[in-house]
Amino acid sequence: MELLFIGDVVGSIGRDMITEYLPQLKKAYRPTVTVINGENAAAGRGITEKIYKQFLEQGANAVTLGNHAWDNRDIFEFIDDAKYLVRPANFPEGTPGTGLVFIKSNQLEVAVINMQGRAFMTDLDDPFRKMDELIEQAAARTNIIFVDFHAETTSEKQAMGWYVDGRVTAIVGTHTHVQTSDNRILPKGTAYLTDVGMTGPYDGILGMDKDASLRRFLTAMPTRFEVPKAGRGLLSGCMISINDTTGRASKIERILINEDHPFTM
Ligand code: FE2
Repeated sequence: MELLFIGDVVGSIGRDMITEYLPQLKKAYRPTVTVINGENAAAGRGITEKIYKQFLEQGANAVTLGNHAWDNRDIFEFIDDAKYLVRPANFPEGTPGTGLVFIKSNQLEVAVINMQGRAFMTDLDDPFRKMDELIEQAAARTNIIFVDFHAETTSEKQAMGWYVDGRVTAIVGTHTHVQTSDNRILPKGTAYLTDVGMTGPYDGILGMDKDASLRRFLTAMPTRFEVPKAGRGLLSGCMISINDTTGRASKIERILINEDHPFTM
């Protein structure tokens, strides 16, 4: 099985990159399963039902979220019925939605887990202990388990990678919006990447308008961040090759598409 994961889609430029490149990526890599992180898909803040459905229509099998999950109020209207929408599993008890979904593909089941880190982020439930719980739940049904670990620090992400090595198929980081180049297969067969990177404006600062962000650095005055609506795009993702029987990964390859790294396949 081949799994395609696309990182943090930001605003309309990010959505346009999905529309333009997802069909080409599907043709080139023939993924069995596609997962998209969409927590910034609605103008950089949260996701709407329309965008969630658009991703599914475009071929995503599941959409993961993160710390911006609740930023667009539309989510409260549809999250209970969104079977393939995954929010961080360690949000406090009583929070709508779920942190684990199962996707069916060619008789095989894939568990998709979304978890959020705590270092320099909201102090949520312990992601490590919560991960034990979810792996147990997922492993009762399938040995193919994909984790989107939405976290700020490289150290917490590496720690989680080692913590789940041999217990999940792949763990890929999101949230920092900058792709790291440390894709590897850990010793017990888990594919690992600290951060997959973002899909959205190429010329911004983490996907936001660079002038507004720069103004905050220069003046320390409060600034409203806006997502640029026009400009060059970037797509970040990764492809993971999986042994269907063992649930272990054999390969993880990074995908980065922008004007400096054109898509060539
Ligand atoms: Fe985030």
